[in-house]
Amino acid sequence: MARFIALIPAAGSGSRMNNQLPKQYLSLAGKPMIYHALHTLCSSSRIFKVFVILAPDDNEWGHYDWPSFSDKLAVRYCGGATRADSVLNGLKSMQADASIRHDDWVLVHDAARPCLTISQLDQLIDVLAVDEVGGLLAIPVADTLKRADPNQRVMCTESRNGLWQAQTPQMFRLGLLMDALGKVDSTTITDDASAIEALGLRPRLVLSDAYNFKVTYPQDLALAELILQKRETK
Ligand code: CTP
Ligand code: MG
Repeated sequence: MARFIALIPAAGSGSRMNNQLPKQYLSLAGKPMIYHALHTLCSSSRIFKVFVILAPDDNEWGHYDWPSFSDKLAVRYCGGATRADSVLNGLKSMQADASIRHDDWVLVHDAARPCLTISQLDQLIDVLAVDEVGGLLAIPVADTLKRADPNQRVMCTESRNGLWQAQTPQMFRLGLLMDALGKVDSTTITDDASAIEALGLRPRLVLSDAYNFKVTYPQDLALAELILQKRETK
């Protein structure tokens, strides 16, 4: 039986966050941001192991104590210049682990999506475990879409019909994802599904919700904190 293994790329600098501290370590509901996604993934009984991919020169991870995660957690200092490089390097280090198989499922999840829930994770696994290709959590686009000219004036309105916003986790088999990421220009893609699409395959979209948003700009922190705190008090 194939297992489900999580991979968290966490080697970015968070340039849009405008903070000296890399985004994944910013304080969120009393913990470094990455703690929240790690907690969800490690506490899921369906996830066999969780790999965290850090920048080779990361000197923040060691400042924290991660005792409750110890049995499932594997930390690798092999992040690359782009997210795709970090994921591919992480997959290569997973492959070197004797307990991991070529046909195991890998769930790639951004450290910057702290509000992922166990039920979203279960939904993704339930839908995709029998899928030929794999897929990702996503939500249909809700806003009206404008295409801008260089002067920031509306050139046209784009139809949102059939458009979805990609989230993570994105779930594919280890061998297929390694093959796909090995073939693409890593500077041109911003998610894992794009690499699979470039092989001519069609990843499945699994309906998620807006709570699983990516913390990108400073104002996103307050929103994520509200969501996490509301859950704690339930
Ligand atoms: N990531 C990574 N390696 C990189 C770049 C990004 O592992 N070279 C990770 C980030 O740490 C994050 C996830 O990919 O968990 C999603 O990326 P993003 O939200 O874009 O984070 P950053 O790249 O750090 O932020 P920015 O684009 O604003 O610089
Ligand atoms: Mg980025």
